[in-house]
Amino acid sequence: MSTDRYLVTGAMGCIGSWVIFHLLNDGAHVVAFDLSDDDRRHQLVLDAEPRDRVEYVQGDLTDPKQVDRVTEGITHLIHLGALQVPFCRQNRPEGALVNVVGTLNVFEAALRQSIRHLVYASSVAVFGTNDDYPVPVLGTDAERRPTTLYGVWKCANEAMARVYNLEDGLPSIGLVPHTVFGPGRDQGLTSQPTSAILAAVRNEDYHIDYGGTLGFQYAPDVARTFIEVARTSPEDAELFGLGGDIVTVEDFIQAITNATGATGITCGEAPLPFPHGMVGTPLHERLGTTIHTPLETAVAETAAWFRRALADDRPLPQSA
Ligand SMILES: NC(=O)c1ccc[n+]([C@@H]2O[C@H](COP(=O)([O-])OP(=O)(O)OC[C@H]3O[C@@H](n4cnc5c(N)ncnc54)[C@H](O)[C@@H]3O)[C@@H](O)[C@H]2O)c1
Repeated sequence: MSTDRYLVTGAMGCIGSWVIFHLLNDGAHVVAFDLSDDDRRHQLVLDAEPRDRVEYVQGDLTDPKQVDRVTEGITHLIHLGALQVPFCRQNRPEGALVNVVGTLNVFEAALRQSIRHLVYASSVAVFGTNDDYPVPVLGTDAERRPTTLYGVWKCANEAMARVYNLEDGLPSIGLVPHTVFGPGRDQGLTSQPTSAILAAVRNEDYHIDYGGTLGFQYAPDVARTFIEVARTSPEDAELFGLGGDIVTVEDFIQAITNATGATGITCGEAPLPFPHGMVGTPLHERLGTTIHTPLETAVAETAAWFRRALADDRPLPQSA
């Protein structure tokens, strides 16, 4: 039996739920760490039996002792816990504490526990608007020009990862998601495309506030990527964009229509303050594989998942 023990921070969130889904399917031992004990995404994504195998630890990333304790005996650490843009706007000091000090606590604990498989989530919010760059699809080393404090703090995380590697020889891999969608995606600036799928399944109209081109990434693919990256041995402070389907919001809506027949989904024109996407090739080369469900299939799967959840009375957000 494997002695690998995976710690997932932010485990009750969208990506965390899918990371746990895959890890349980792989038969891995999972410690799920989160401040929240709201398990609605786990009820949505996981069946009851595998859920019983998760070691849940409720705790706060901002408390170094708690973080230290939960990393004891951990071999693989997937750090996802964070406050997203709207929550950082609502409470900036708390945002800085969770997103910066929380990540610092994770790196400190990884160092003390000699964890050699450390992966963390950065964000496309480290970049500026699409107009800030000569090309719409960026490499990982493109200039950081964040337009939100959330983005500033993700930049700080990337820089911290570099310094822990330089000063302490603690390697890590950061992944840079763009617009994650799929079951469980129900909060944050880029959650509206998923809310639109849910609305379509409920035969409701829905308006996505923004338009433009976004790098859409399917939550189960993103989660599988975090796991596969955690299983590699980082050599440095590595950083990779996730690629995905770089298409317009209108194209995404068309995929919803194709999957559900819905015609009441609309979007605004103003783009989000992000580049269109990130090049995925370096990550695919690093992993030796491409983890990618085509957009049409992923949207149809999400709609089917929501239909099943409605039929089984699993928890779904009240309003889109
Ligand atoms: N979803 C996206 O499109 C996207 C895009 C770019 C980056 N990211 C990053 O990926 C990671 C995961 O995203 P997600 O969509 O699953 O987010 P999410 O908001 O669904 O989940 C984040 C989780 O972190 C937990 N958390 C917050 N404060 C905490 C604390 N003090 N201690 C412990 N846990 C705490 C929350 O309770 C929540 O369950 C985050 O770091 C996010 O910034 C996500």
